[in-house]
Amino acid sequence: MTYSKIAGTGSYLPERVVTNRDLEARIDTSDEWIVSRTGIEARHVAAEGEMTSDLALQAARRALQAAETGAGELDLIVVATTTPDMVFPSTACLLQAKLGARQCAAFDVQAVCTGFVYALAVADRLVASGTHGCALVVGAEVFSRLLDWNDRRTCVLFGDGAGAVVLRRAETPGILSTHLCADGSLAHILRVDGGISHGQIRGNPYLEMDGQAVYRTAVRVLEESAFQTLKRNGVTARELDWYVPHQANIRIINSLADKIGIAPEKVVTTVARQGNTSAASVPLALDSAVRDGRIKPGHLVLLQGVGGGMTWGSVLLRM
Ligand code: UT7
Repeated sequence: MTYSKIAGTGSYLPERVVTNRDLEARIDTSDEWIVSRTGIEARHVAAEGEMTSDLALQAARRALQAAETGAGELDLIVVATTTPDMVFPSTACLLQAKLGARQCAAFDVQAVCTGFVYALAVADRLVASGTHGCALVVGAEVFSRLLDWNDRRTCVLFGDGAGAVVLRRAETPGILSTHLCADGSLAHILRVDGGISHGQIRGNPYLEMDGQAVYRTAVRVLEESAFQTLKRNGVTARELDWYVPHQANIRIINSLADKIGIAPEKVVTTVARQGNTSAASVPLALDSAVRDGRIKPGHLVLLQGVGGGMTWGSVLLRM
């Protein structure tokens, strides 16, 4: 039996930081409201002209360096993003060129905030099956460009960034199991329905959300998915070393940790300083805890994502 295993992680945040105080000066909101409802204090916003592939490039270089791998060794590049540089080519192809990687498979995955979990699951199967040997999996977003910055219900919640992992084939796990799910009947509760057609933008190009419906769904489906994942692997929540959930709202994260039975000190959170970076949030959080030495080789880690679709998923892995 062969597996895929994370050989290195990396991440990147754009330089510009927008704090809650900055937002207070522009719209009818308050630091107190944002912190008490979401736990978010600040978020990073990409510079004009800084594209998803630029953020992905920085995160990818750091992951490759951590894995002591050259871009020339990659034979698979998967980018999870909701904010591709252009309609096509895929951001993965643009990243491949920017990295100077050789000809290899490269494609994007679109599962909004669950994108990285979906991308990791796909890459895991391709690497573990022996079809590919060394994969780069990236979650990268310039979500700030999907926001109406006058809409206080949504613009305070999100930020930009990128996170990446290098996956290699291994004789020991590695990724233990992946669990993906979606319910398209909930498409209306979180969406950007705009699109390009006949040279025009059709529909609303800004994010719309029924926050409370998303909140309730996220807690329900991630709790179910966590127990399904633990059961499949015959492990208990107490055996987990780390929980790295999607970073949308500290109240969702705390409620999930409590329902699943994970001690607060085992939960990795970045939401306070980064907001919700959609597909980048899980690999950004993972990289932060790897780099500061909390997540160590051999640790058992549960990753979880949830987002538009609605989509959701879990990955159980041994670092
Ligand atoms: O990746 C998945 C993406 N999304 C999520 O995970 C989001 C899930 N949902 C949430 O995190 C929460 O539902 C929110 C943080 C979005 C909202 O919190 P809430 O406790 O559900 O607030 P609410 O929507 O019920 O709004 C309460 C009040 C409203 O005023 P009224 O109608 O009661 O007078 C809002 O207009 O808060 C008002 N409000 C704000 N006030 C100040 C909404 N946004 C703001 C704001 N500043 N930024």
